Amino acid sequence: ENKYRAFPPVRLADRTWPDKTITAPPVWMSTDLRDGNQALIEPMSAASKMRFFDTIVGCGIKEIEVGFPSASQADFDFVRQLIEQDRVPADVTIEVLTQAREDLIRRTIDSLAGARRAIVHLYNAVSPSFRRIVFNMSREEVVAIAVAGTRLIRELTDARPETEWVFEYSPETFSMAELDFAREVCDAVSAVWQPTPERKMIINLPSTVEVSTPNVYADQIEWMHRHLARRDSIVLSVHPHNDRGTAVAAAELAVMAGADRVEGCLFGNGERTGNVDLVTLALNLYTQGVHPGLDFSDIDEVRKCVEECNQIPVHPRHPYVGDLVFTAFSGSHQDAIKKGFAQQDPQGLWEVPYLPIDPADLGRSYDAVIRVNSQSGKGGMTYLLEQTYGLKLPRRLQIEFSRAVQRVMDETGKEVDAKDIHAVFEEEYLSP
Ligand code: KIV
Ligand code: ZN
Repeated sequence: ENKYRAFPPVRLADRTWPDKTITAPPVWMSTDLRDGNQALIEPMSAASKMRFFDTIVGCGIKEIEVGFPSASQADFDFVRQLIEQDRVPADVTIEVLTQAREDLIRRTIDSLAGARRAIVHLYNAVSPSFRRIVFNMSREEVVAIAVAGTRLIRELTDARPETEWVFEYSPETFSMAELDFAREVCDAVSAVWQPTPERKMIINLPSTVEVSTPNVYADQIEWMHRHLARRDSIVLSVHPHNDRGTAVAAAELAVMAGADRVEGCLFGNGERTGNVDLVTLALNLYTQGVHPGLDFSDIDEVRKCVEECNQIPVHPRHPYVGDLVFTAFSGSHQDAIKKGFAQQDPQGLWEVPYLPIDPADLGRSYDAVIRVNSQSGKGGMTYLLEQTYGLKLPRRLQIEFSRAVQRVMDETGKEVDAKDIHAVFEEEYLSP
């Protein structure tokens, strides 16, 4: 008996996103300091948050969700610190999250006093299971909560014209909700806010829990993109979580389907299996020839900061940044990479086999590209000997030499580096 009840897919015979490619980057929003931080075993200290904030700014991300000030005094204090110490660059906008309760909204707006520009992010859950199980609420009650929250934010922000306000609404659990109802709530909210093409609001459609294949999420986004009221006055945002491990694909397809903006975290931190990884998304664009508008030219520094602040290591096989991703152990791969480097045109397209990106573009070195263990052939060892010690072995000698290195690896069962390989060379050919 099949007890699994899948979310019904959205069937759009006329969907357009499969025919598209991404030609321009979305607006990026980092929620590392909010969704990311709330998922940490030990939430960040104020000093770590400030360091992380500066790193996000350094990457070129212009919208940064910095906390949930009505839910935590530490978050409130951090927002005050950013504003009072004038830590927010002129082209960066801070964002804060709030639930749709009057006291919480008032406190949220208070936290932003004196901000030059700010995004107030309101959310409430809309899916049937949340309405029934968590809140015991009707559809009408859910709409009423979102509308009342929006109305109060409008009133409070209108009273503080010294700040340039942007409003964001998230129907939480969107991807598990009925599309017509999600649209109804969003339309009701935008009817209250009254955005214009000059003063847009953000509608953010989260896969709060990722429950479907990425194409289904993209269909949902395309449907909203086509059916939302006041679409020309709305920045359509997505917020994929990674429960099925497909958040990056979901975000990419969602952008093809009409999304303008992506919320996520660096290296995919976030609740449970994480938020979508903004670094992977951005560098995927980069390897397709679309500049993401972000700067990861010293990705190791970014990684160091994120690992230290989150106290979570980045996996060695994490795309673009893991320790092992520019490494080839197998002999045939090493040989191909070596040939690729030798024939690389510095002005031309990047065409080194097995390496999807030039590690130098990320501030990573070629040294780690070739590593040698018992799986490797002669290519890698001779490459390391040549690169590190300028020793170019004649072809005939390469086979004999690789056997000697192989013997050492078989004995130790370990990987060898350039120094070990040179020691074998000395032992074999230079010692009396
Ligand atoms: O995942 C989610 O639904 C959220 C909302 C608050 C946007 O984080
Ligand atoms: Zn989230």
